[in-house]
Amino acid sequence: MKALVVGTGGVGQSIAAIAKRRDPNGEWLEKMIMADYDLAKAQAAVDRLDDPRFVAEKVDASDPDDVAALAKLAEVDILMNLCAPNFNPSLLQAALKAQVHYLDTAMTLSEPHPTDPMHKCGVKLGDAEYALSPEFEKIGKYALAGFGVEPGMADFFARYAADHLFDEIDEIGIRDGSNLEIPGAKGISFGFSVWTTIEECNNPAIVYENGEVHTIEPFAELENFWLPEGIGEVEVGHVEHEEVIQIAHNADRLKGVKKATFKYALGDEFMQAMEIFRSINIDKAEKIKVGDVMVAPRDVIAAAAPDPNEIGKLYVGQTAAGTYVTGKKNGMERKVYLYQVADNKECVERYGTQVVVAQTAFTPVITIELLAKGSLGSKPGDPKSGVHNPEAFNADDYVALMPAYEFPGGFLEMESEYKLANDRQALLDLAR
Ligand SMILES: NC(=O)c1ccc[n+]([C@@H]2O[C@H](COP(=O)([O-])OP(=O)(O)OC[C@H]3O[C@@H](n4cnc5c(N)ncnc54)[C@H](O)[C@@H]3O)[C@@H](O)[C@H]2O)c1
Repeated sequence: MKALVVGTGGVGQSIAAIAKRRDPNGEWLEKMIMADYDLAKAQAAVDRLDDPRFVAEKVDASDPDDVAALAKLAEVDILMNLCAPNFNPSLLQAALKAQVHYLDTAMTLSEPHPTDPMHKCGVKLGDAEYALSPEFEKIGKYALAGFGVEPGMADFFARYAADHLFDEIDEIGIRDGSNLEIPGAKGISFGFSVWTTIEECNNPAIVYENGEVHTIEPFAELENFWLPEGIGEVEVGHVEHEEVIQIAHNADRLKGVKKATFKYALGDEFMQAMEIFRSINIDKAEKIKVGDVMVAPRDVIAAAAPDPNEIGKLYVGQTAAGTYVTGKKNGMERKVYLYQVADNKECVERYGTQVVVAQTAFTPVITIELLAKGSLGSKPGDPKSGVHNPEAFNADDYVALMPAYEFPGGFLEMESEYKLANDRQALLDLAR
């Protein structure tokens, strides 16, 4: 497997470090090109790895011809997009031009409904990406859309729950929170791509129900959710995120799921900061004239804010990502949470990158390992080409590899009729 990673920020660097640690002898990873428009950054990442399989290149992600030329020259099998999602259209075109597989961790961007943005969707996340499926089918390649942790792992978990844990599914809800803090620090910090965080926290949030996706105020319907492995209770609210779209898109593979939500614990201070950004328009990605120059206010924040990859190394604590599923099993109502908890200190020691970006990066690496070994797409019903989310694939091989990647998954059976019946039975079984 030869891979071209475009964007060597926090997630791109973590992908390289995880791939090296997982496959030190090159059993399936032959080469990984680390490409960025900031060549010095790509080169520094490669130098830290000290392994001839990793090489740095300069590339402009906004130019499909430039990226395709690099992909062809290096004869790569897959283009991995780890830039902000505003580059998805040009990188999807680059993969089509070079006739290689494509993978990303965030789908093409939404556009608000022109007249009723807080109730109705305009262009949805991923609309432009799904539309390219026939073109990827034509060249016999995959565009693997939303293969990070959320989206990504959370969507593999949705499929796993549907295949193994439920007869019927009512809701699949992604729930994310942490106890991460920087001791002594004041104010807010960004955990990953500043540009993308501002985008997802300021757009109208989305919910799938009654067969369609609608919008709702960002952070609406705050509720408490208990996270395992020492994190405890957090307050979560709706945010715009791909999983809602991906679950809706794959509902027929998910036991007819009726509702999909994404709720994130951001903390009061962070939510207030986003509301302030929104109220004075400095969250906007469109350029405005400042003196003699045209500049996007969001680009200014992204350039000025402390780099999430550096400041994040100071975090203390853990973060949880996961999938909460409700439905029926054997005629009884059941609730489960499938999750992954990662620790910042462990990630910094193992990969040299902070926990939020490292936790995002293990899924793309498992995915290319499965692709290299011919396992991705090999199970009955798996798609053979086209634009697909993790839900489209049998998740068993993926889940089985998580512990070997040192990101083991967890399973929480929550209070329900099903749990009560099983707990009572377990007591009786002990007496036998
Ligand atoms: N699915 C998930 O769980 C998840 C979680 C976190 C981040 N993400 C996504 O991962 C992606 C990367 O996030 P990150 O935190 O590593 O971001 P980052 O800002 O650290 O890295 C982005 C990189 O892109 C490079 N870049 C910018 N413009 C470029 C251009 N024109 N050509 C080439 N390179 C260019 C930057 O130099 C930078 O190195 C984002 O799309 C983000 O949404 C997904």
